[in-house]
Amino acid sequence: MSFEFPPAINSLDERLPLIIQGGMGINVSCWHLVNRVARLGEMGVVSGTAFDSLFIRILQDGDADGNMRRALQHFPDQDVVARILDKYFIEGGKDPDKPYQLGEMFRQVPSQALLELTVAANFANVFLAKEGTKGPVGINLLEKVQLPNLASLYGAMLAGVDAVLMGAGIPKYIPAILDRFALHEPASMLLNVEDALPDEKFYSHFNPRTVLTQPDAELKRPKFFAIIASDVLAKMLLRRPEGETNGFVIEGPTAGGHNAPPRKKGLFNERGEPIYGGLDEADLETIKDLGLPFWLAGSYLAKLDTALSYGASGVQVGTAFAFCNESGLTDDIKQEVIRGVLAGTIDIVTDPRASPTGFPFKVVQLKGTLSEETTYALRSRVCDLGYLRHLYRKENGKLDYRCPSEPVAAFLRKGGIEEETVGRKCLCNALMSCVGQGQVRKDGVEGALQTAGDEVLRLGAFLQGRTSYSAKDVIDFILAT
Ligand SMILES: Cc1cc2nc3c(=O)[nH]c(=O)nc-3n(C[C@H](O)[C@H](O)[C@H](O)COP(=O)(O)O)c2cc1C
Repeated sequence: MSFEFPPAINSLDERLPLIIQGGMGINVSCWHLVNRVARLGEMGVVSGTAFDSLFIRILQDGDADGNMRRALQHFPDQDVVARILDKYFIEGGKDPDKPYQLGEMFRQVPSQALLELTVAANFANVFLAKEGTKGPVGINLLEKVQLPNLASLYGAMLAGVDAVLMGAGIPKYIPAILDRFALHEPASMLLNVEDALPDEKFYSHFNPRTVLTQPDAELKRPKFFAIIASDVLAKMLLRRPEGETNGFVIEGPTAGGHNAPPRKKGLFNERGEPIYGGLDEADLETIKDLGLPFWLAGSYLAKLDTALSYGASGVQVGTAFAFCNESGLTDDIKQEVIRGVLAGTIDIVTDPRASPTGFPFKVVQLKGTLSEETTYALRSRVCDLGYLRHLYRKENGKLDYRCPSEPVAAFLRKGGIEEETVGRKCLCNALMSCVGQGQVRKDGVEGALQTAGDEVLRLGAFLQGRTSYSAKDVIDFILAT
């Protein structure tokens, strides 16, 4: 099968969606969900976070429905595909009691094999999400997970992704990178490096031609929508001369996943949750005056009309989509959460410690998951996926990597401070378990840690007693408000 360059037309030039189904990692917003939303005419967003690792686990599970391998048949370089399948694909799936073979962890200069894998994995994810529909499809990546981002973006662009949505940090270099990748030109990104000397700079580089030697047509330049919590950041992004930002998702502190930390630090309620105040509310008048489309996120399931009245183009919703039939979460988690919602017992905590990023992370309190202190205490720390490792400069000037959730002794040996490790959870492994792809350890499968927004507390009004629902039900509900 030969590679077809995706059409250069961006469907977002014709119509902006009223609803963005928010990107939810790792693979909660899987391609099934995104394809469904795009077919219904709204924008679906796949999660690119850690997708290289997720992808090789699907291949090791035998790719039962054959979709990943079918998508790979459309990848421009079949030698790359052959190398990946050779290394990871297991016909019929691995023995469920055996651990998954790990991919490599990202470093400043990743191996050629890891770059190829990341490009191909993100290509396949977006290819499947877009298959059979002209509806818009975006990809979500976290600014904080810097090292895989360049190769992930290029892979998504090869499959014709319509938009890139990025938050959890200040994604200021991304728009210019998208311009360069549309021409298959190399790009670099400044890395955040702890303990770097003043004026010392470290970069990550990616040259598309190392993966695709003879590209012959320009790629569609996806729209870039920054996910931010403040008007100050919006203005800052627009002041940058190079690379165009095309819109914003303004996400408040009630949204699922990671939240921007409060502006006023050090204030916590009696449950240990950070307290947000007026300073944390984006000034929507200012945002509107910037003249770009924007969507509001964080408890907007039943507030499309409110968002439109502020001048927004629509809403970004995550929580309600997370537990719908088409999402990537395991049936057990969906059922447990829906049961809790219907019984009125569901509880959620904004945990300022759980995520090694240092950003508050919302955690659904579920039995048998790492939200329980006892379950958390039983887990031996291990860091073998490494997406949330921080880069730091060693005394000899070289870069190294450390994660506050890794084994404490290793973190301390690398110059980390003990206080940083307290209460930290391994999101990389836990989020893999939420979508049924958790690593098998000697004492069982890694525990899950489920996130959702505060909206989950009000999901009963939407559920009306139902114990399951579809993405279409969510869209119909939003559009009826
Ligand atoms: C399960 C889950 C995972 C999420 N993961 C991400 C993520 O990886 N990246 C991101 O930018 N936002 C993430 N979000 C936020 C959503 O994209 C969206 O902005 C948010 O859910 C909107 O608010 P709501 O939760 O009130 O619907 C996540 C949300 C949920 C519920």
